[in-house]
Amino acid sequence: MTTDTSHHSGSGHTAKIQGGVGIVAVGSYVPEKILTNHDLEKMVETSDEWITTRTGIKERRIAAPDQTTSDIAVIAAQRALEKAKMTAAEIELIIVATITGDVLFPATACYVQQKLGAKHAFAFDISAACTGFIYALSIAKRFIITGMVKNALVIGAEELSRFTDWTDRNTCVIFGDGAGAVILKPVPDGKGILTEYLGSDGSAADLIFIPAGGAKTPISAEQLEQRQQFIKMKGNEVFKFAVLAMGKSIKHALADAQIHSDQVSLMIPHQANIRIIQSSAERFNIPMEKVYVNIDKYGNTSAASIPIALDEAVQSGRIKENDIIVLVAFGAGLTWGSCVIRW
Ligand code: UT7
Repeated sequence: MTTDTSHHSGSGHTAKIQGGVGIVAVGSYVPEKILTNHDLEKMVETSDEWITTRTGIKERRIAAPDQTTSDIAVIAAQRALEKAKMTAAEIELIIVATITGDVLFPATACYVQQKLGAKHAFAFDISAACTGFIYALSIAKRFIITGMVKNALVIGAEELSRFTDWTDRNTCVIFGDGAGAVILKPVPDGKGILTEYLGSDGSAADLIFIPAGGAKTPISAEQLEQRQQFIKMKGNEVFKFAVLAMGKSIKHALADAQIHSDQVSLMIPHQANIRIIQSSAERFNIPMEKVYVNIDKYGNTSAASIPIALDEAVQSGRIKENDIIVLVAFGAGLTWGSCVIRW
């Protein structure tokens, strides 16, 4: 199933009446501790060579034991607020995209609200794995378009290291921790988030998941012994799906925005695997110099990967006003999505 109620530039009913919604500030944070491929060589049977050639990852960040997902989300949010010259009290909506929240409930967004002192906001999480940030942007945009809020803080924050089986080489070489945040506000018509394309396929829900710890299979001594509290992934099947989903997402978002791939200034894909990123770019003749890649430094940080990359791209001057930016992701669920932004 796909959802795109915003529809194309110009024909979007709400966009015409209310103008656009755009990202006015970005911030990010990654934990200090670096875990390199060479460190992993000492933990499981793997090699720097295998990890580098199969994934593009050289190192990843690991949160400190006393640092929670909401803690790292708050640092990213404070950095974004500073750039937007806003106080936390001005924020009206907080959405945190995460699959590794502080606790099963309440929402990590509520902890973020409390720690920021964002007392005029309402706050909730969304769970769409690596596509979470794009889903969250799309939701926040609609709250602003309908006039329910004047601004929104959208965060992707993950501590995948807490749910990683450090004895399983199929998964532990891939994931990392980090957080990225953006502030959304109304912008002139024709700018900001032009189109989004969202999809999901629940028939493949068990390709990446955590079997125990939910209502279906509560944690028990037996589950712990079988290491069912950790991420399980059929990497190869996810890989095949990812290449198709990324392609489909880019195609639809560009078509809806009536943008040709030549006009794209920068594509920021979810940083899952360099081979997936390269093949998606190739399919649309987008040269790699127009694709933002930082997977070598952080690995796959799920919902945090796009906002971290976006922050780096903005800070390094790779995004200028009026540039066309494409964000694209896929993840557990399975889920996929993309959006086209005129900066
Ligand atoms: O954000 C969404 C989250 N998930 C993903 O994005 C995952 C997408 N999938 C992938 O990125 C890739 O499938 C992986 C990087 C996970 C694996 O790469 P692959 O090229 O699909 O390898 P494979 O699973 O087909 O395994 C090839 C071989 C196997 O050995 P045999 O059976 O050929 O002898 C594995 O046992 O590589 C072996 N292998 C490893 N060897 C060294 C698997 N993991 C490792 C490892 N180090 N860490």
